[in-house]
Amino acid sequence: MIDDLRRLEADARAEIGRAADPDELERVRVRYLGRREGLVSALLRQLGRLSREERPAAGAEANRVKKALAGALEERSRELSAAAVSDPDRLDLTLPARGKWRGTIHPVSQVVDDIWQIFRSLGFTRARGPEVDNEWYNFVALNTPLDHPAADEQDTLYLAPGLLLRSHTSPVQIRTMEKYPPPIRIIAPGMVYRRDTYDATHTPAFAQVEGLVVDEGVTFVDFKATLAEFARRFWGPGTQVRFRPSFFPFTEPSAEVDVKRVIVREDGREEETDWIEIMGAGMVDPAVLDNVGYDSERYTGWAFGMGPARVALLRHGVRDLRLFYENDMRFLGQFT
Ligand code: PHE
Repeated sequence: MIDDLRRLEADARAEIGRAADPDELERVRVRYLGRREGLVSALLRQLGRLSREERPAAGAEANRVKKALAGALEERSRELSAAAVSDPDRLDLTLPARGKWRGTIHPVSQVVDDIWQIFRSLGFTRARGPEVDNEWYNFVALNTPLDHPAADEQDTLYLAPGLLLRSHTSPVQIRTMEKYPPPIRIIAPGMVYRRDTYDATHTPAFAQVEGLVVDEGVTFVDFKATLAEFARRFWGPGTQVRFRPSFFPFTEPSAEVDVKRVIVREDGREEETDWIEIMGAGMVDPAVLDNVGYDSERYTGWAFGMGPARVALLRHGVRDLRLFYENDMRFLGQFT
C-alpha cells in the first residue's frame, strides 16, 4: 500500500508540473485529492483490508502524501499566477495606466493665499492668534459688552466660563496691537467658530481673513481706496465696489462692502453680476485703540473681516458651502 501511495504521489507531482493553467491544475487537484472520487481517498478506503500492524504506517504515509500534494498544488498555483502577470499575451497593454496621485491646494486655502498675496504686495505682514481665546480678546477689548447678543451662548461656543472658540478673527487685532506699537498693517487668516446650524450657507467652523491698519493720519479715503484696489486686483479691473453703512461694536463708522463683478459668459459676452457682500469693515473705534493702550488722539485705523469660503463659492460657481468642508476627494480634486 505504501508503494501504491508513493507511485500515486509521483504521478500527481508530474501532472501538477504539467498543468498549464489554473483550470487544469484544479482538475488535477480533484483527481487526486477530491474527497470522494480522489485517487488518494480511494486508496485510503482500502486501509481496512490491511492488518492491524500495517495500518498505522500506511495511514501516516497517506497523510504525508496528502500534505505534500497540497503543498505542490499551492506552489504550482503561485507559479501560474506569476507567469500570467508577466505573459504579454495575457496582459491588456491598452489598459490606461492609473494616474499618479497629485495633491491640490484646497479651494478655500487658494482664496486665502490669493488675498494674502495682494495685501502682501501692498505692504502688509501676516499675523495669527489662537483659536481658543477668552472674552477679553473676542469681545470686551473689541468694545463688545458681554451682554451683546454675539457674546451669548446661543451664538458662541464656550469651552469653560470666559473661555471660548473665537467667533471671528478680530481678536488678532487686539493681540497684535498689545504686542507691537503702530504702525500696523496686518492680514490674519484663520478658522473661526459659531453655533450655527450646518447647511448650504452656514458651517459652525469656517475661515476668515482679518485685515488691520493703524497709523498716524490714516483716513476713510485710505480705507476705501485700499479695499477698492484689492477688489480690482482680485476680481479684475472692471469690478465695482460699494460701501453700505452697517454696525460693528469695534468700528465707527462701519460698512459692509459689496462687489459687482464682470464675468465673461460662455458666448464670450461680458455680463455684470449682482452686488455681492464680501466683507464687514470700518474705521477702528477709538475705544478699541484705548483698550490696547494706543493714543487714540494720535492714531487712526481701519479693519475688515472677510469669508474666503464665500469668495470660493463665487469663484467656482459652487452652491453649497458644505462641499468645501466634507473632504470628498472627487470634489476637491477638481480644483487643480
Ligand atoms: N469681525 C466681523 C465679523 O466677523 C467682521 C469685521 C472685521 C468687521 C473687522 C469690521 C472690522 O462679522
